[in-house]
Amino acid sequence: MTDVVDAMQAMDLRGQTHKYSKIYDRVPIEKVLQTPSERAIGSTVVVGGWVKTGREAEKGTLLFLALNDGSGPGNLQVIVRDDVYALGDLKNTGTSVVVEGELRAPPESAKGQAIEMHATKILMCGKCDGATYPIAKKKQTLEFLREKIHFRPRTNTIASVARVRSALAYATHTFFNQNGFLYVHTPCITQSDCEGAGEMFQVTTMLSEAEKAESVQPTVKPEELDAKRTEVSECGSGIKAMKESGAESKDVKKAVKKLDKLKQELSEMERAARKIGGIQRAEDGTIDYSDDFFGGKSYLTVSGQLQVETYACALSNVYTFGPTFRAENSNTTRHLAEFWMIEPELAFADLNDDMQCAEDYVKFCCNYLLENCYGDLEFFAKMYDSTCIDRVKEIASTPFGRVSYTEAIELLEKAVADGKKFTYPVSWGIDLATEHERWLAEEHFKKPVIVYNYPKDIKAFYMRLNEDNKTVAAMDVLVPKVGELIGGSQREERLDVLERRMAECDLVPEDYSWYLDLRRFGSVTHSGFGLGFERLILLCTGMENIRDVIPYPRWPNNCIS
Ligand code: 4AD
Ligand code: MG
Repeated sequence: MTDVVDAMQAMDLRGQTHKYSKIYDRVPIEKVLQTPSERAIGSTVVVGGWVKTGREAEKGTLLFLALNDGSGPGNLQVIVRDDVYALGDLKNTGTSVVVEGELRAPPESAKGQAIEMHATKILMCGKCDGATYPIAKKKQTLEFLREKIHFRPRTNTIASVARVRSALAYATHTFFNQNGFLYVHTPCITQSDCEGAGEMFQVTTMLSEAEKAESVQPTVKPEELDAKRTEVSECGSGIKAMKESGAESKDVKKAVKKLDKLKQELSEMERAARKIGGIQRAEDGTIDYSDDFFGGKSYLTVSGQLQVETYACALSNVYTFGPTFRAENSNTTRHLAEFWMIEPELAFADLNDDMQCAEDYVKFCCNYLLENCYGDLEFFAKMYDSTCIDRVKEIASTPFGRVSYTEAIELLEKAVADGKKFTYPVSWGIDLATEHERWLAEEHFKKPVIVYNYPKDIKAFYMRLNEDNKTVAAMDVLVPKVGELIGGSQREERLDVLERRMAECDLVPEDYSWYLDLRRFGSVTHSGFGLGFERLILLCTGMENIRDVIPYPRWPNNCIS
């Protein structure tokens, strides 16, 4: 009978082998640690991972390994005797191994662990020289790790961030899917500046073509150009003379044809002469992009909003989730040059619907983390921000504050009058600075707050003008720790008003003709927002710097790997 029970217990964990690790029949370490110990004890299983720490005991005859495979924040303690494997090779941090072993209850004295593994077989995958391994030392600063970007995921912190990030991405798709939104892929490369702020990275092959150019000198010499101009002018005078002398029309026609050909040649030569340093210039001296890869000036997108609007204005509820790029020279802990944004767009929906959707979505993400990533949240609470779990719980359960921009300014002005010091002065019309946003969320409301109806002059052209003609139906979600998490608005659906706003913002309507078409043909009340994905991770983990919550951070002068 006990044999049967033992066999069933062993089956229990073996059934947890990773479906796509059949080569070793490997069980993810998190599964081992999550299985109630009374069921796990006695099983023999295989695990694989990287050594976090190795400690020799009993005069070098025994080795305690803390092994981690990234499946969760916990390490499995593995005990290796020297008759199973030569210990010297094994103990270095970073060594990768596959271990078969029996799971046993640890001795009473071993605190904090419910199970340990006694190795019966070791397969060395990759040795790791402790003297040269860049992250061998236990505690490394986050700044240092940004330079060792390829090894960063092996640290507890970056591994926890990676799990939280993945969970939040999954939560995002789940939320929108459950609420009837269609996932739309908007382009990374575009010719439209959505925010109209001119902070775009240009996409061009002209520079590499210029570098390849055989000569940086124009291919046409000035004297050749002069000669051609003379030829054209003489040909023109010739025709005039022919006409005056009453020449036969067929001869005049022939001469005119020749003149056209010469003019064409001249125009081509003039264009070639304007290729300076391998870069084509237009007649007015500006760069001529008609020869560029896309036949016009193109950029990496700052937002998928304009394109996702075309899908909302056909499929009603849609969202895009992808990388966005901003060439702003911001060296802050809240800005990246490449970041990910979630942008839902809701047709037949106004600003109130938009705010409700934003609030529900953020709450859903927080609940998802509490249910699926608690171990990682505990890690952040212990190592970085003791308030992070409480914050995530509160955000998940408490309604967000709501306040108009005008009221928010009044609150800030009152705070100043009461002695609060801000670096940037407060008055109606200012773009709120992070310090103002954080004061509202952290000190006044003590929770996320949605500020709506901003002055039109500090917001983008596409936001719907309110009846006061001074404000637009915009909303920003401000949160503790971070400041602005979400920016959104009801969109201007009235063609004439939108055209006026574009003119005020010095935008050329021709550049946005397809966008204006949405207002010409079947226009609809619609709204949307953009959530900065990395800022959501900062909010939930309490990590301080946005560069540590994206696998490959890009900021001015930094594009490692
Ligand atoms: O407020 P933003 O600029 O809004 C838009 O781009 C709209 N087109 C969105 C929409 O309505 N569909 O950016 C949205 C969010 C910000 O609230 C912020 O969280 C994040 O994107 N964000 C950045 N995150 C990291 N680094 C940067 N440089 C960021 N710029 C904006
Ligand atoms: Mg914004």
